[in-house]
Amino acid sequence: MCGIVGYVGKREALPILLDGIKNLEYRGYDSAGILVVDSKGKLSLAKSVGKISNLEKKITNQNFSGSWGIVHSRWATHGGVTEANAHPHCDCSKNIWLVHNGIIENFQELKEALLKRGHHFRSQTDTEVIAHLIEEIKKEKGLSLKEAVPLALKKIQGTYGLVILDRREPHLLVAARNFSPLLIGVGNQENIVASDVAAILSHTRKVVYLNDREYALITPQDFEIFNLDSQPISWRVQEIDWDLKAAKKEGFPHFMLKEIFSQPQSLEDSLRGRLLIEEGNAKLGGLERIKETLRKINRLYLVGCGTAYFAAKVGEYMLEEYAQIPTKAEIGSEFRYKKPVFLKGDALVAISQSGETADTLAAVREAKEKGVLTLGIVNVVGSSIARQTDAGVYQHIGPEISVASTKAFTSQIAILALLTLFLGRQRNLSLVMGKRIAQELSKIPSLVKKVLSQADLIKNLANKYAGYKNFLFLGRKYNFPVACEGALKLKEISYVHAEGIGSGEMKHGTIAMIDKNFPSIVLAFQDSVYEKNLSNIQEIKARQGKVIALATQGDKKIKKIADDVIYLPKTLEMLMPILAVIPLQLFAYYFAVLKGLDVDHPRNLAKSVTVE
Ligand code: G6P
Repeated sequence: MCGIVGYVGKREALPILLDGIKNLEYRGYDSAGILVVDSKGKLSLAKSVGKISNLEKKITNQNFSGSWGIVHSRWATHGGVTEANAHPHCDCSKNIWLVHNGIIENFQELKEALLKRGHHFRSQTDTEVIAHLIEEIKKEKGLSLKEAVPLALKKIQGTYGLVILDRREPHLLVAARNFSPLLIGVGNQENIVASDVAAILSHTRKVVYLNDREYALITPQDFEIFNLDSQPISWRVQEIDWDLKAAKKEGFPHFMLKEIFSQPQSLEDSLRGRLLIEEGNAKLGGLERIKETLRKINRLYLVGCGTAYFAAKVGEYMLEEYAQIPTKAEIGSEFRYKKPVFLKGDALVAISQSGETADTLAAVREAKEKGVLTLGIVNVVGSSIARQTDAGVYQHIGPEISVASTKAFTSQIAILALLTLFLGRQRNLSLVMGKRIAQELSKIPSLVKKVLSQADLIKNLANKYAGYKNFLFLGRKYNFPVACEGALKLKEISYVHAEGIGSGEMKHGTIAMIDKNFPSIVLAFQDSVYEKNLSNIQEIKARQGKVIALATQGDKKIKKIADDVIYLPKTLEMLMPILAVIPLQLFAYYFAVLKGLDVDHPRNLAKSVTVE
C-alpha cells in the first residue's frame, strides 16, 4: 500500500526522502511523487508513474535543494494510475501540500461542498479534498496550519496516515493517523516521519508510533503529539533492533529467495528461549501476565489474511487436536462483517506479519469492543495489532521484504505450535506428548535446511512443468492449508491459475477439470491420512493427470504412481506444514523466474494491505 516519508532537519531532504521511499518499494505501488521545499519556500516537485527509478530520472539535473519535504509511493484506490493522481496533492493556492495513505470515505460530499465554495481540483483522488478542506478552514477562520489540521480531521471520515506542510510555515510537518500506520523516527536536530520503520532505519532506530486519531507537530528540534481535541498526548520512544542486513539482498537475486533460504534461521529466532523440552512446555514471555486468564479460555478464533490465514488454519487443527480447545480460523475481511457471536471464555488471536493489515485489525477491534480477550502473533514490533491486542507473541524474524510471504508463514506455524503446547499443558496434554512436540519443534530448523538442499531438484521440476497454465494443489488435514498456500504462492508471483483444496473435496467438483494438461501437486506424507491421499493420486492418474507428489523420505510406493516425487524428512504430522510448504515456495519462485517476472514486486499486490 502507499508509502510515506517526510523529513525536516538540517540535511538536504532529497537523498533522505528517496532512500526512505526506496526502502518501502517492497510494499507495492504504481506511481510516486516528491516535494522538497527550501528555506525561502521555493517548491521542487516531481511525480511519475511506475517505479521510483522513473521519479529519480525526472529529478536528475534538477535543483531539488531544501531540508524539508515529503515523498509518497501510491497504490491506486480512487482515480487511475496517472501523474495527476500521484501524491503530493495541494490546495488551490499551492501552499498546502500533503501525502496520504488510506481512504477518505466521505470525500464525495466534502468535494461537492468545496466545489461550491469555488475550490478547483486537479486530481480524481479522495486525498486532494483534505488539502482544500484545510485551506478552507484556514481562510475562513484565519488559522495556522497546526490549528486548522485537527478541525479538518474532525470532518473527515475514513482512514489516514497523513503528512502535511504549508510552505508559508517553514520547517513544520504535521502528521496525523487514523487506522493507517505512521511513526516518527527521532533524530538529532532532525525528524523523519514514515509509514513503515524500514524507511528510517538507516538514520535512526528510535521510533515513536502515533495512535489513531492523533496528530503530531514535527520540527527539526522537537515534536509534540495531540489528540483531535488538541490535548497533548504522552508518548514513548521504542528502540528498533532489526539488523539492517535483513533489508539487503546479500547476494540473492531476489528477496523472496533470500527469505526462503533464511527459514532455518528465522525459525531458530522464533523458537529461541521458548522451548522447555524437559517440561514438555513452551515459555511465552508475552503471555506470562495473562497466564491464568488463558487457563479459562473455552474457544479460540484465529484471524488472518492471505498467507497468515493459512497459518491460522494450520493452528486450528493443532489447537483442537492437542490443546482440545474449540478453534476456528477466520479470514479477517469476513470476520467483522459476519457478526460473530461471542461467548464467555472466547479469545481472538490475530496473526499478521506486518501487524497493520486493516481487515485483521478490524477483527481485533470488533472483538475488543465486545470485551473479548485479544492476542497477537505479529512480526513488526510496535505495529498497530501489536499495540492494540491485550497480549501477544512476537515472531522475531526481522523484516520480510518480499510481497509474497514465506518466512513469516513458517514462523507463524512454529509459534502456533508453541501456543498449542502452552495451552495444551494448561489442560490435558500429557508430559510425554508435550516433550515429543517440543523435541520435534527443536529439530525443525535443521530439517528445513535439508529440504532447502533440494532446491535444484525443485528448480528442474519448475522447468519441466513451466508450460502448464493450471495447477491443482491437494492436501488433507494439516496439509490442506499448505496446499492452499502453495496455490496462493504460484498465483501471486507467477500469475498462473492454481487452486488449493482439501484432497477429499476433489471428487465433489474439481476432478472435472483434470486431464493431461492440468497437473496436480499432492501432499501425500506417511501420516494419518496417507492412504486417502494415495487414492486421490490414483484418481488423478486414472484421468491422465500428471502428479508431483510431496512424500515422506523412503516411501517407495508413491514413486510407482506419481510422475515426480519430492521427498521430505519425517516429523510430527502437526509440524509437517513447516517442511511441506518449502518446496511449494521454491516451485513458485523458480516458476516466476522462468517466466521473467518481477518476483519481489508482483503486479497489483501490496505487502501490507492497510485499506479494507
Ligand atoms: C498481503 C500480502 C500477503 C500477506 C497478507 C497478510 O496480502 O501480500 O503476503 O499474507 O497481506 O499480511 P500480514 O502482514 O497481515 O501477515
